[in-house]
Amino acid sequence: MGSGLWDTHAHLDDERFAGDREEVLAEIGREMAGVIDCGCEEKSNLFALDLAEKYPFIYAAVGWHPENLDELPKNYLEKLALWAAQSKVVAIGEVGLDYYWPDNAPREVQKKVFREQMDLAAQLQLPLIIHDREAHGDMLEIFRKDAPRHLEAVFHCFSGSVEMAAELAKKGCYFGFGGTSTYKNARKVREVMLSLPKELLLLETDSPYLAPVPYRGKRNKPLYTKLTAQNMALLLGVAYEEVVAFTEENTLRLFRKIKQSRS
Ligand code: NI
Repeated sequence: MGSGLWDTHAHLDDERFAGDREEVLAEIGREMAGVIDCGCEEKSNLFALDLAEKYPFIYAAVGWHPENLDELPKNYLEKLALWAAQSKVVAIGEVGLDYYWPDNAPREVQKKVFREQMDLAAQLQLPLIIHDREAHGDMLEIFRKDAPRHLEAVFHCFSGSVEMAAELAKKGCYFGFGGTSTYKNARKVREVMLSLPKELLLLETDSPYLAPVPYRGKRNKPLYTKLTAQNMALLLGVAYEEVVAFTEENTLRLFRKIKQSRS
């Protein structure tokens, strides 16, 4: 296996990988330590499970994304629990709140489904991979009022304020940084990165979305984690190798099942 680079958030089921998925996977095997492929509904959850079974360096997360609640099966929590019992399922996600798209399910429905998946993650002692888009107020309120005490979570592609990050960090949350942290206009994202202890920083891509500079606007792929890591090294004033080392350590601490599944 390659270096200690981890992409903790990718969607390799996306049709934009249809033409070269095998090459992208071979490249991960050569150049990276691993990738967590996140499901968002039934089909992509099953895809993630399948990929994790076939490739030693792929791990899966299963969940229902707030953009996909129109197709939520009644027994979705049972399905998630069943899938999560597999050794290479290392998290519940991608789940959360998305108030950006007007077609998404009503806010009350989103909050209910998010809380249910949060409780399931705590019950199964698995970390939660959280999507929060334009929903910071309600997300914080849920964390203040309803989050189980021993919940472990990562805010993927975090877009909140330094103050919000500080409050969530106190509750033990991690933060995933990807392409957006390399964008010229993303001053706030970099401020948040610099304000956090490095023990809480993770690398991610959200492939095929949000490719880092200089590939902004193109299809993203897990190996571009390297560009985000180089940028993080520059911002923190440390060596690239150090970023790779501490983000790997953080990844293996939060996603405990990665190590367990290897032993
Ligand atoms: Ni995502």
